[in-house]
Amino acid sequence: MKLPEAQVAVLNTASADEEQTIERIAEETDLDPAAVTGAAFELEDEGLVEIVERTSDDVSMTEEAEEYVEEGLPELRLYEAAVSLGADEDAVQLGQVIGEAGLEGPAVDIALSNYARKGYGSIDSGEITADPDADPESDSEAATLEAIAEGSVAYQSDLALEDLEKRGLVERSETTIRSVLLTDAGVTELMAGVEVAETVGQVTSDLITSGEWEDVEFAEYNVEADAEELTPGKTHVLRQMSERVKDVLVGMGFQEMQGPTVDADFWINDCLFMPQDHPARNHWDRFALDNPAKIDDLPEDLVERVESAHREGVGDDGEGYHSPWDLDFAKALALRGHTTSLTARHLSGEAMGDLEPPQRFFSIEKAYRNDTLDATHLLEFFQIEGWVMAEDLSVRDLMGTFTEFYEQFGITDVEFKPHYNPYTEPSFELFGRHPETGEMIEIGNSGIFRPEMLEPLGVDCDVMAWGLALERLMMLVTGAEDIRDVHGTLLDLDYLRSEEVIY
Ligand code: PHE
Repeated sequence: MKLPEAQVAVLNTASADEEQTIERIAEETDLDPAAVTGAAFELEDEGLVEIVERTSDDVSMTEEAEEYVEEGLPELRLYEAAVSLGADEDAVQLGQVIGEAGLEGPAVDIALSNYARKGYGSIDSGEITADPDADPESDSEAATLEAIAEGSVAYQSDLALEDLEKRGLVERSETTIRSVLLTDAGVTELMAGVEVAETVGQVTSDLITSGEWEDVEFAEYNVEADAEELTPGKTHVLRQMSERVKDVLVGMGFQEMQGPTVDADFWINDCLFMPQDHPARNHWDRFALDNPAKIDDLPEDLVERVESAHREGVGDDGEGYHSPWDLDFAKALALRGHTTSLTARHLSGEAMGDLEPPQRFFSIEKAYRNDTLDATHLLEFFQIEGWVMAEDLSVRDLMGTFTEFYEQFGITDVEFKPHYNPYTEPSFELFGRHPETGEMIEIGNSGIFRPEMLEPLGVDCDVMAWGLALERLMMLVTGAEDIRDVHGTLLDLDYLRSEEVIY
């Protein structure tokens, strides 16, 4: 029989009683492993070979783990030092124990967090105790690392392996190993004689112009053959989501706003009728800039009007805050805590000149807050800012806009909860149901800007506005339960490679 060259080579190399791996055949035939795999599948279709598949679990240690195999896990070093200083009887100063253990830099935090987790003792108000019954000799993570280092496949415990993986100390991967075995039919054909059939893998212009294409035999495509896995750079899923949100908002008639990431408190807060003694404006919550620490100039007229709104309110029966208002405070620079600073810049005419209603604007940009890190908070997030300027807007317009927006992402059960913002009245928080946990999670904040904000900015019609969190939308769409699974340095590489935002 006649077969394409690669198939003949594979057939000749394969044996009926000893499995040959694809790698091995590739080496012997000097063919690419992918070509061997393709040829082997063709031969299997013809019944000439059998392909045996096995999966193998590979475990490898990271550099950090190798260090620990040498020096011991940081928490064990901490425990030993603690015991040597008598912490199994009385609490000892933590600093002293860390020094005794010789722990430095990131190893300190690693030691502390694993120490308590593994029950070696407790750490409280700068003091450490050691559980006298704890046994570092039977630490399953240490034993498992040791076993891997020695190349032993019989790992101590799967659980420990999982913990080590979570700690970034081992990496696990699964590979499929294929081997080829000649079938009886294969042996028979080989004995009868197998020749190379000249096949053409690619049509060339020569083949066409010479008319030769009519006589040659074309190689068949095997669309089921394994292909090499490529992991090229790609757009981050969160960025893909942001692009999609952009498309949706542009489709709803919105224009994109741009503006500075670092801005004066004036634009971030004062223009929003946020009193200067508002809790969110203290130095704990904002990321202030040191150098430069202040913006040089602000539009004087606007500053005057904003200051007066803060002091006296607006309108005949206006009430201000009757609290101090300081220009230096307004000039101070910080990372914006929300992108409503862009809205203020646009409404005031500072960004693009005076705007006549109707107008619709949006931005999807980062905002920064000194929050406590947890499953729904990072120190930074992408805020989907938006506003509509028109005569006579009502809460129905606001709710209708959200309903229309979220429907595009398959979210049809948005709930609204009355809320308070210094700059909007009425105000609403938005909630959406998490597809996995069933919990209602906060996805945004919104409202209709108050006269105390709009009048100084020179706007004399209604403006409704909102700030939504892109990451929270992503969590509702993908079912991710932790914001750190969609954004940040702990993101899973496989997730980054495989997740797609689908329109
Ligand atoms: N700035 C608000 C926030 O960050 C969002 C918002 C914008 C609310 C505009 C109302 C109006 O939560």
